[in-house]
Amino acid sequence: MLIGVPKEPQSTDVQLVAATPDTVGKLMKLGYDVCVESGAGDDASFMDDQYAAAGAQIVGREEVWKADLVVVLDTPPDDYLQKMNPQATLLCRMAPGRNEHTISTLAKHQLTGLAMDAVPRISRAQSMDVLSSMANLAGNRAIIEAAHSYGRLFTGQVTAAGKMPPANIYVIGAGVAGLAAIGTANSMGAQVRATDVRPEVAEQVESMGAEFVAIPVATQKSEDGYAKEMDEDQARAALKLYSEQAAQADIVVTTANIPGRTAPILITAEAVASMKPGSIIVDMAAANGGNCELTKPDEVVVTDNGVTILGYTDLARRLPGQASQLYAQNIVNLFKLLTPNKDGQAVFNMDDEIIRGITVTERGTIMWPPPPIKVSATPTAHTEKENAVAEAEAAGRAAREAAKKKRNTILWSAIAFVLMGVLVLFSPAAVLPHYMVLALAIVVGFYVITAVTHSLHTPLMSETNAISGIILVGALLQIGSSSVLVNVLSFIAVLVASINIFGGFTVTHRMLGMFKKED
Ligand code: NAI
Repeated sequence: MLIGVPKEPQSTDVQLVAATPDTVGKLMKLGYDVCVESGAGDDASFMDDQYAAAGAQIVGREEVWKADLVVVLDTPPDDYLQKMNPQATLLCRMAPGRNEHTISTLAKHQLTGLAMDAVPRISRAQSMDVLSSMANLAGNRAIIEAAHSYGRLFTGQVTAAGKMPPANIYVIGAGVAGLAAIGTANSMGAQVRATDVRPEVAEQVESMGAEFVAIPVATQKSEDGYAKEMDEDQARAALKLYSEQAAQADIVVTTANIPGRTAPILITAEAVASMKPGSIIVDMAAANGGNCELTKPDEVVVTDNGVTILGYTDLARRLPGQASQLYAQNIVNLFKLLTPNKDGQAVFNMDDEIIRGITVTERGTIMWPPPPIKVSATPTAHTEKENAVAEAEAAGRAAREAAKKKRNTILWSAIAFVLMGVLVLFSPAAVLPHYMVLALAIVVGFYVITAVTHSLHTPLMSETNAISGIILVGALLQIGSSSVLVNVLSFIAVLVASINIFGGFTVTHRMLGMFKKED
């Protein structure tokens, strides 16, 4: 079968492309022939000669749309669908849930339509999920755009001219885009906080280096990895929280999205009014109505109190090479699934939940909507039970280990006590008060040393050096004694105290060396 890669028919400033020279090679390995419209990859810096070198035919516009399988980014205008051969297949983002016209036009032209943006969110489908690929890039780019508009540094610094605090960034919605934004902001040195209605994402937020700020009323348990609409109590508490957090933040990134609905308003005009002059809102949901009441899609709004609201809807497109490469790789991964025999023949197996999930029309028959897929982002009852058993086992193990440790402590204490008793019994009376001092020194030393934090170990080391110095003086005074035992003990004391003192100096010398500038 022949795969056609046209130049994007939608007129945009920058055009992405659905195949790269690298993915052309991968599609050919699956047995397909590939043709690419001349100039299709120009904006993403993939040139015709690179496609040709990878084995693609470079063709004109009419020819590319005659391929058996046509892959583009977004649904083309109707006149392009008319160019396609009946029974051919179109793969692109179609937003089928709110695009009845596309579905009926595909059906009218007897086409098979596969919606790349309808890939179910299950782990097997992750490698084909174009929404996640694009949201990931968009989240990253949202922070870059914010940094561009923000008049300060992200990272905090202490300089000779004064202290600069780090930027304070608040992200609402910790899905794919939100997590990418958190990661980028964190790596640029900002202090990041984030909120999501799904409490199960707290761990992911923290693992990306941000603080999770929970909505202070019971939030939702997600069954499918997507948020549901909040009830009134939750919505009120959430709005209050967003408003308070926005007032403290330098940059707010909103990514909240509920599939099939317009984006919820999370930052009201009043909340914007409470923000500091110079702060930025990046409203990633702008294309879907926006999470901020004052957002205008594709526009930059500057409010009277000096807040800049970025409503860009083309964030991923602002990284054309990267976005094209990821989209093209998602396409290859889907073709791997469609081509089980690697013979260049696409098989539309409707028993496969991914293929069924993205099939909008099949040779003119409307297949949308697909049957729902039950996916779970939270543990099922079964795994919860397994977790409970595992937790009980771990608790049992911990209790057994603690009991063993306690037994050992009692045993060793008893042995030490008996040894001390023997020593006291057989020692001359004059030495006995020294044992008391020794015992007290051990107890005090133990508590002092274990209570000192790691960062204070260097001063502690100096302290032990001083003590070693005293030991050294004492031992040197004793070393001329007539008793062999005293001489031996004094020698050992000199040796051990010297190791401590000289070892301490060597370590300190090395540590100071780490702060020295190289010539
Ligand atoms: P997602 O569904 O993975 O994440 C959305 C997150 O928002 C979810 O974690 C959800 O629980 C959370 N959420 C929903 N309602 C909320 C609320 N009221 N308060 C707090 N959290 C809430 O979606 P993804 O893929 O991360 O995309 C995020 C948004 O970015 C979408 O609106 C998408 O259309 C948009 N997007 C924008 C682009 C642009 O160029 N502007 C490019 C790509 C995506």
